[in-house]
Amino acid sequence: MTTVLSDRDRRKRDDRPDETFYADPRFVTHADDAFLDRLTSLYASATAPGDRVLDAMSSWVSHLPDTEYERVVGHGLNEAELAANDRLDEFVVSDLNDGQSLPFADDSFDAVCCALSVQYLQYPGPTFAEFARVLAPGGTVVVSFSNRMFPTKAIRAWRAASMDERADLVERYLAAGGFEVAERIAERPDGDPFYAVVGTLP
Ligand SMILES: C[S@@+](CC[C@H](N)C(=O)[O-])C[C@H]1O[C@@H](n2cnc3c(N)ncnc32)[C@H](O)[C@@H]1O
Repeated sequence: MTTVLSDRDRRKRDDRPDETFYADPRFVTHADDAFLDRLTSLYASATAPGDRVLDAMSSWVSHLPDTEYERVVGHGLNEAELAANDRLDEFVVSDLNDGQSLPFADDSFDAVCCALSVQYLQYPGPTFAEFARVLAPGGTVVVSFSNRMFPTKAIRAWRAASMDERADLVERYLAAGGFEVAERIAERPDGDPFYAVVGTLP
């Protein structure tokens, strides 16, 4: 597999295990309403009724539209946040910087969403390969981000990059996982810039 980041790139200022930082729940949103509305409309166009959706690196809100999915599974680091997320049918807690395998069979999902969190991944190649494994052929991944972050927990490569360079980085993550880039969105309304990369599996 292609290595996307050097050891220097993946360095964090706070290198304690991530579970320490996320031990206490944060019932906040991580972007403004315009960003979150735009994300919901992107999810509405990128998914279909009956899909099986994995909300990776999730919290207490999933930003999904009212679409009737077959099931929505959450994944994240804080159990109380995930338990409070009423869009989830079930959830798992796992640290993707400690190990990238997820407890799902191959072809378990049609879409993987990863909102406002990709800047924290230290091993994006194996992580996106794992997203590809749990997706069905032709499956979709939607990675969204803005310019906010917990700076002590974001990797060095992300902190040092411009917004467009971050989108380039995400495209490289997707390619390393076996995805083709279907769409890159870069919109800068007055508030939080809306960036997203949509990938699909062959
Ligand atoms: C800024 S919040 C975004 C939460 C949610 N996706 C949203 O849109 O509101 C970052 C999330 O990334 C998750 N996260 C951070 N580091 C992680 C890691 N190493 N493994 C798994 N999840 C992680 C945390 O659980 C946290 O909820």
